[in-house]
Amino acid sequence: MALILGIETSCDETAAAVVRDGFEVLSNSVASQIAKHAAHGGVVPELAAREHLTALTPVLEGALREADVTLRDIDAIAVTQGPGLIPALLVGLSFAKGLAMGNRIPYVGVNHFIGHIYGAFLDEANRELEDSANYPLLALVVSGGHTSLVLIDEHGRASALGSTIDDAAGEALDKGAKLLGLGYPGGPIMQKTAEGGDPHRFEFPRPLTGAAGKPLAPENRYNFSFSGIKTALLYHVKNHAGADGTLPVELLKDTAASYQEAVVDVLVRKTLAAAKAMGAKMIVAAGGVACNGVLRERLEQLVPRGVKLRLAARKYCTDNAAMIGGLGYHYWKKGTFSPLDIDSYARLPRITQIPFLD
Ligand code: KG4
Ligand code: ZN
Repeated sequence: MALILGIETSCDETAAAVVRDGFEVLSNSVASQIAKHAAHGGVVPELAAREHLTALTPVLEGALREADVTLRDIDAIAVTQGPGLIPALLVGLSFAKGLAMGNRIPYVGVNHFIGHIYGAFLDEANRELEDSANYPLLALVVSGGHTSLVLIDEHGRASALGSTIDDAAGEALDKGAKLLGLGYPGGPIMQKTAEGGDPHRFEFPRPLTGAAGKPLAPENRYNFSFSGIKTALLYHVKNHAGADGTLPVELLKDTAASYQEAVVDVLVRKTLAAAKAMGAKMIVAAGGVACNGVLRERLEQLVPRGVKLRLAARKYCTDNAAMIGGLGYHYWKKGTFSPLDIDSYARLPRITQIPFLD
């Protein structure tokens, strides 16, 4: 039995969680800074770092209290090392190092992106990870920072089939919502605004799908691009703007629905094409955008029979520390810990092996 304390500060959520044996989430405490950043229309890294500094201690105390444990019961600390915003990451990483040193607990820096995939297997879904019938497994990681398709075999060997070549899908939704004057964060607001709207009234581009009659270069088969959709929205707003330069209210719902549809359509098409070509037995969707109701519904409708679908629970889609604590268990099991001088990193390193399978 092992209790792992997870700590996450890669972006604008300060989170701590206690996870037993890699899957049983005893507490999952998240303090969101959304309200603090909303006034700026996006996350301000320095502000995020300051907020993490004040939120970390109460969030940690909340997580320990909720799990009914003390630091003495914790076997290891797992902390997000990267990728993410460096000033934000450094706060969590330094905090974890201090906790580890002061309490003589081993600690390990883990990868946030892999944490998102692992988040789909918390709670009772964990059994599916050990079932070799579910491999190869195709993971769509789709958030504010990432849009990637990763293929994983039963030994944990992983290959990134494709990624976004410009904006992440969440970023496209966030920037799109900003253009429409809807506020921040864009994903959930866009979904709400789109409800009841006609997703086919306006045709936004489907980049890198070959849909516009442009042949798709083989190297872009599983890559994504969302900047063109965003530019199309900018022109759409300009073309339909009223005297005050903004989109008339009666067009807002259909515009949001059509824009969201374009983003979801590209994600679903690419994921299904990759799953088919690779013979995937299970498709996993994780990351903040995997909260999106239309994306979830569409995948549920279209995933072919014989292929399992594992949608991360909504509470584990957006940034949280349960996914970090769960992943940390697998390092504890192998006795792999980090020295005190590790640094945070901003970009995703090349992923070739998933640490929770071997
Ligand atoms: O995973 P996450 O919390 O942070 C990153 O690692 O980036 O993802 C945040 C992203 C934001 O872009 C946000 O707009 C998006 O997830 N998001 C959504 C929804 N909820 C959050 N996008 C679409 N629909 C949602 N319901
Ligand atoms: Zn994330």
